[in-house]
Amino acid sequence: MKIIETVAEMRSERARMTSPVALVPTLGGLHAGHEALLHAARRRAGTVIASLFLNPTQFGENEDLDRYPADRERDLAVMRKAGVDAVFAPSNSEMYPPDDDFVVDPGAIGEILEGAHRPGHLRGVSTVVAKLFIATRPDLAYFGEKDAQQIEVVRRMARGLLFGIEIVPIPTVRDENGLALSSRHAYLSDDERVAAKVVYRSLCRARDAWEAGERDKTTLEDVIRAVIDTEPLATLDYAAVVDARTFGPISEPGQGASGPDLTALALVAARFGSTRLIDNIRLDRNVTF
Ligand code: PAF
Repeated sequence: MKIIETVAEMRSERARMTSPVALVPTLGGLHAGHEALLHAARRRAGTVIASLFLNPTQFGENEDLDRYPADRERDLAVMRKAGVDAVFAPSNSEMYPPDDDFVVDPGAIGEILEGAHRPGHLRGVSTVVAKLFIATRPDLAYFGEKDAQQIEVVRRMARGLLFGIEIVPIPTVRDENGLALSSRHAYLSDDERVAAKVVYRSLCRARDAWEAGERDKTTLEDVIRAVIDTEPLATLDYAAVVDARTFGPISEPGQGASGPDLTALALVAARFGSTRLIDNIRLDRNVTF
């Protein structure tokens, strides 16, 4: 497994790679969710590149950049075991040259949900993913469905900026309690970890309601909110039900049953102490990301 630290070296290695080339971007702090991305990429691609870059521009001032649980040697060992061919692990100055203030703006989708609660976050993600795409020129790029809004932003960017890269979503990996794996679990106390089960439970309740015929966005969001409210250690940031394709409304409140091709996604963000977790579920089980 080659470890590449400069864009220039990445470009010259890329020229020799066997197609198709897959990229699995990571911030580090790898867990089984990342392993699922690496394995999926390995099964399909001739060459797998993983990136290891703790991108400062997607973290807000009061967020957890300084304590992010990345462990370079451990992360490299996970990548090696998963059969990664090359790791792109650039420095900050390699990715953000001096005086660089150029950004990729995701537009309206960057201002709602995660964008509203973490101002600038999705702009930081689009900017760094665009740079990773340009440095590695993959044919395929793998992202976890836990970050559903991020996938939609990256998809729109790949389409809008004519990258010609297939964005491959991979299902969320959950622990035995349904908790979606996240590097941020490292911050949870034992009590918070138990409490965090409420996140997936709230989403399952919304799906039960959907399956029982509920189609009103506000009612479905209230179902999620009510379940989260039962957990004293949880503070809700948002509960949202959106059209999975547009991230807009699924139907006007009270309008009732919508068309047969309606596709809905429920999303939740909640804090447990200083740890913020996000998760989502497809309300219509048969539709994939
Ligand atoms: O999902 C992540 O880990 C990050 O947002 C990504 C895609 C690696 C960009 O820094």
